[in-house]
Amino acid sequence: MNLRDIRVEYRKNPIGLSVKRPRFSWKMESDEKETVQKSYQIVVKKCIPDLNSRPEGAGPWSGPKQQLEEIVWDTGVTESDESVLLEYDGTELEPECVYHVRIQTEDNHGNRAYADTTFETGIFDNQSFHGDMITHNFAGEETACPVFWKEFSIGKKVARARLYATAHGVYEVCLNGKKVEDYYMAPGWTSYHHRLQYQIYDVTEQLSRANRIEMTVGNGWYKGILGFYCQPDQYGDRVSAFAELRIVYEDGSRESIATDPSWGVRTGKIRYSEIYMGETVDTDAPEIQTGQVSVMDFDKSVLTAQENEPVRITERIPAEKLIVTPKGEKLVDFGQNITGFAEVHVHGKKGQKIQIRHAETLDKDGNFYPETLRQAKSADTYICSGQDQILHPHFTFHGFRYICVEGMETMEPGQFTACVLHSDMEKTGSFWTSNPKVNQLQSNIAWSQRDNFLDIPTDCPQRDERLGWTGDAQIFSWTAAFNRNTALFFSKWMRDVAAESSLEKGVPHVVPDILRQYSAAAWSDVAVIIPWVVYQIYGDRRILEENWKCMHEWVDHIQSHCGENGLWQSGFQYGDWLALDKEESADRTGATDKYMIANAYYLYAADLVRRSAEVLGRHEEARRYAQLYEQTLEAFRKEYYTPTGRIVSETQTGAVLSLYFHLAREQDRPRILKNLLTNIENHKNHLSTGFVGTPYICHALSENGAHQTAGTLFMKEDYPSWLYAVNQGATTIWERWDSIKQDGSFDESGMNSLNHYAYGSVGDWLYRKAAGLSQLEPGYKKFLVRPMFVKGIEETGVSFESVYGKIEVQTSCRNGKIRVYVQVPANTSAVLILPEKEGEITLGSGSYEYEYETDTSLEVKRFSLDSTLSEVLAQPLAVEMFNRMAPGMLEGPMIQFAYQMTFAEMLGAAPEARPLYEAVIDALNEQEQ
Ligand code: BGC
Repeated sequence: MNLRDIRVEYRKNPIGLSVKRPRFSWKMESDEKETVQKSYQIVVKKCIPDLNSRPEGAGPWSGPKQQLEEIVWDTGVTESDESVLLEYDGTELEPECVYHVRIQTEDNHGNRAYADTTFETGIFDNQSFHGDMITHNFAGEETACPVFWKEFSIGKKVARARLYATAHGVYEVCLNGKKVEDYYMAPGWTSYHHRLQYQIYDVTEQLSRANRIEMTVGNGWYKGILGFYCQPDQYGDRVSAFAELRIVYEDGSRESIATDPSWGVRTGKIRYSEIYMGETVDTDAPEIQTGQVSVMDFDKSVLTAQENEPVRITERIPAEKLIVTPKGEKLVDFGQNITGFAEVHVHGKKGQKIQIRHAETLDKDGNFYPETLRQAKSADTYICSGQDQILHPHFTFHGFRYICVEGMETMEPGQFTACVLHSDMEKTGSFWTSNPKVNQLQSNIAWSQRDNFLDIPTDCPQRDERLGWTGDAQIFSWTAAFNRNTALFFSKWMRDVAAESSLEKGVPHVVPDILRQYSAAAWSDVAVIIPWVVYQIYGDRRILEENWKCMHEWVDHIQSHCGENGLWQSGFQYGDWLALDKEESADRTGATDKYMIANAYYLYAADLVRRSAEVLGRHEEARRYAQLYEQTLEAFRKEYYTPTGRIVSETQTGAVLSLYFHLAREQDRPRILKNLLTNIENHKNHLSTGFVGTPYICHALSENGAHQTAGTLFMKEDYPSWLYAVNQGATTIWERWDSIKQDGSFDESGMNSLNHYAYGSVGDWLYRKAAGLSQLEPGYKKFLVRPMFVKGIEETGVSFESVYGKIEVQTSCRNGKIRVYVQVPANTSAVLILPEKEGEITLGSGSYEYEYETDTSLEVKRFSLDSTLSEVLAQPLAVEMFNRMAPGMLEGPMIQFAYQMTFAEMLGAAPEARPLYEAVIDALNEQEQ
């Protein structure tokens, strides 16, 4: 048995930790089956540098010194199987100290193992920072980014140097000409009036005798243009900088160098920088101005140590090809819609100007199409120095697959690299199948997550929006937590949600809140849902504790807005946003009664608050919310169901919420399911749901005995469906089911992003139902494996790095054989329900394989008599065959009425056409191979 992957607050060997009671997690690995942890012991020691035992002349920045250690916490041998997020409970930790942690465990087979790690605390008391927040005195019209600088020398040998830095704006800090870390867009976006993150850098190795520190600050989210009205100065009209370098010398003395009026300020090569608009960098002869530094009023209590993973370049994608468009534009295609920027390697002429613009797609004629960006210009401009240069922007990011290059006479693909930027969360989950289109969909989901998890969860990364829309994040949060470890990311963002919510005003629609709009169902419910997701996926109780106030206040807020009937039926609602079932297409809220949705979510939230209260041991509150739930459910049933079991909104979403949230009376469920199936059948097995119904439609079907319909609906390839976009060449998830129409034209309502993860929430169904992996206990301490076959997918695989270790499930059904492979990590257990078998099998840790016979075949042909005429006519081969075999048929005046009919339906009127239809279907299926 082995211990691996010890984490302190989810991180490996963190520095600058300001959490007073950090939590420790570890993973056990064992070759023996059914391994469980029997006991653990945690010993934490404070490291005290032993100045006397340091050998004379040890190098100034040399390796480890002798340390004395003092035990600050020893749990003793504790009988327990807990191994995730155990909270420190020793002597109060001291700031700026290194601690050594040893974990020892024994398993149920008598094996023992131990492993070590360290962590370093940072600042616990913000008032102990000496630095000032400093600003400049450049004129308001000056767009160049200020560079704050300071020179200093060091006479003694440095043992350890930590730089703490932040800004009002976004910053980069260089020490002796080198960027101190590979972070971008620091300090990130928080609710700045309440909370401002600072970053912590280990700069021990970067110091020399004479030093120069430089901090360049861009407008970023603080002062920059933001929101769909493109307003600047959301938080303030002047950027500023804060830094404090704390040095511990080898002789034990300390010194700090912090931002104060003695710093200098000048403008630099970044002449203009806006997140939406792009950046201008003059590397030739920018006109440098020198200014005066002054101290800003600044409340240090808002400072908080970096809470989530920093934004980094996580991938560099080479250019796929160069294109000259029909309009003559010179483009580079990177083959993938990403968030980040393009890096250009040039040896330009001195003073040569190069401009890069960005777009997600080309129009149907193959020209550059930046319309999905709306007013965001997303143009990066460079003035060359005449030398060999690698050019890129610093304080902006774009959503793009294509760039349009101006100002370069010759271009080679090798000169361009797309740099992918996002919060550097650990990849934890992968999902694959034997079906390439489903795999592409999964890739699109994973990419839209990466592209939109840039410090906050955004709706989209490209247009003049990029805001922390709460509804989108909530809908996608289950899927997201599977793909990447989102615990720190969401914990940080939820603190901003809490900071900007209150009992009186409710919860904002976007966080950080720049819109000042509050309280809408499915959006504001983020306050309750995301803490619950993080608790379920990672076993993190603290997020429930931290958010408890905000969670229950959201439910209390709704309650205070309910009418006499106990229901919430007033005020603004987004409804089933972007659903397809509303006739007035300009209204984006869908056909489902908006207040039915609001109250369905109210019930869902009240129930999660009740469950959270139970987890937190708040029994009185748990009872209160249980009661509220029961009363509201009764009122809901009275209002939204007829006595005979019909829903007032007989839409797909109305039925889905009734079933999935368990709102309908037990006796009415069969009728509601039947009506849902009829509705889906009337839509030729297509969905018509928006943001609210889409995440649950397949779940609701699979859980209510209609899994086959879920599979059929999911595997649809024509509009509206998930695979429609895949067939149209999408590399990310679109905002709309028809963002790009069949004829290559676009939705032109002014809201059409090609990188919006909300509909990617079907990922949760793929993992839980198709691949069959769900947590039964928080953190997957116990989990369910229940793969459910989908016609058209002969093989599924899922791998998930849980907080206990790696879980794997692989299932195949082909050639008359079902095979299932399950890997259960040590210290967990699983309940397995094998496809087409009765009963449950309980599994301890280890790997298991099953193989047995079946008559089931999951092979399907894409086209059949159930295909609609329009689906078939989307294939040029079909058009050609009809024109050849039944000349004139497609020109007939009535043909448009048949577009939405299936061949089976058309045969009712003209049975003699069967050979023709079958010939076309066979040819199309052959073409698919
Ligand atoms: C955003 C959404 C958001 C919605 C709310 C849009 O502009 O892009 O995804 O949830 O507004 O209405």
